[in-house]
Amino acid sequence: MKAVQTYIDNNRERFLAELMDLLRIPSVSADPAFKADVQRTAEAVAAHLRKAGADHVELVTTAGHPIVYGEKFLAANLPTVMVYGHYDVQPADPIDLWESGPFEPVIKKTKTHPEGAIFARGACDDKGQMFMHIKAFEAMMATDSLPCNVKFMIEGEEEVGSSHLGTFLKENKDKLACDVILISDTSIIDNDTPSITTGLRGLSYVEVSVTGPNRDLHSGVYGGAVANPINVLCEMIAGMMDENKHIVIPGFYDDVDEVSKSEREEMNKAPFDLKTYREDLGIAAVRGEAGYTTLERTSIRPTLDVNGIWGGYTGEGAKTVLPSKAYAKISMRLVPHQSPDKITALFENYFKAVAPPNVKVEVHPHHGGEPVVTPTDTPEYQAAYKAMETAFGKAPIPKREGGSIPIVALFEQILGVKSVLMGFGLDSDAIHSPNEHYGLFNFYKGIETIPYYYQNYVALKK
Ligand code: BES
Ligand code: ZN
Repeated sequence: MKAVQTYIDNNRERFLAELMDLLRIPSVSADPAFKADVQRTAEAVAAHLRKAGADHVELVTTAGHPIVYGEKFLAANLPTVMVYGHYDVQPADPIDLWESGPFEPVIKKTKTHPEGAIFARGACDDKGQMFMHIKAFEAMMATDSLPCNVKFMIEGEEEVGSSHLGTFLKENKDKLACDVILISDTSIIDNDTPSITTGLRGLSYVEVSVTGPNRDLHSGVYGGAVANPINVLCEMIAGMMDENKHIVIPGFYDDVDEVSKSEREEMNKAPFDLKTYREDLGIAAVRGEAGYTTLERTSIRPTLDVNGIWGGYTGEGAKTVLPSKAYAKISMRLVPHQSPDKITALFENYFKAVAPPNVKVEVHPHHGGEPVVTPTDTPEYQAAYKAMETAFGKAPIPKREGGSIPIVALFEQILGVKSVLMGFGLDSDAIHSPNEHYGLFNFYKGIETIPYYYQNYVALKK
């Protein structure tokens, strides 16, 4: 292991420069305008894998963006780790709020990252974290210390719901056979408090439209007499939660796995400072479902949030108009054992049922994903626990998180393989927001931790 660490130490600057190059390619999967850039990013990732020593590296074409696959087979009697990550990123908007270009990475020091952080879209989610795995693999290959077989599956559609990866899994079960899937696409509590993610929320995502009159109207001539679809949409959304911030859609909580009192007590022992949380976000107070703490509200409880709402006139100045249409994009984060399809159907029925007769409403479901919880009493998890303990000098804390990685449930359903969520980001790294960044400490700590994972896993499987 000493040789691996020395190799990492001797190549720190190059690793960083390579990551910065990768961050310069705008691989925005949601926007067709970036299709060629997404492709170029996949090619760059494949080239890195090849150079690091992977065999059979290929770009698998799908109906969407390509999947990068590569592997290193050592021996049939050794376990196989499959690394999953994504090279696509969220759109950079609102661009005006970035202090430097989203695809022009720069290194700046911050309060949480005194040793510096790389600012760019995808720095943390997930190019920076995915790249740590390629560099750790390179270090193990270069020092002859890779202890087991490894497969890499790096996709380009995670941020748009991984819609084509499921088919790839179904059609390539043998090729993708492995003992564990290792993923770095989540967070740790802070740089002094390592943690391992033991759960992710699921997702149901819908777009709704409300149509009133057959054309935009003068808001003076018609206002007061005709239902304004924006007003109606706002009322409908506001009515979806009661004063306790409980979602009122009938049946919404029916399948929710109620976490036991002792488990809740345990999860609330995790370090969390409400004042720091508020100050970081610039809010005077938090708000959420009555009876639950902030840690619980963002992990074991489902949510309903508007992600975007539009209609009418939003340009410069004032235009007096009673619009014909209003739209919103709504996400519901789900917990075990809620089903995204069932929740989407419940939402649709409810939304249609509460619509007043003076408007027409439509509901279009988008991607969804199932929630997951991962076991902690397995060699797969224990290998991560020990690796983090060695690298950070501190035992990691298990922690369920609020984000979603829809493919994780499918890994279990289709491949029958459980995942280990060993991420290194911080919640304050502004993923999906302007000025996303990833700490240099986190980047290098990740590269250092991963080889320990491999070593521990092989030892525990013997
Ligand atoms: N890396 C995130 C998920 C995440 C973030 C998990 C923080 C835990 C902590 C992932 O790339 C992501 O953003 N996923 C999307 C999925 C969606 C587009 C289907 C999400 O959660 O919004
Ligand atoms: Zn993301």
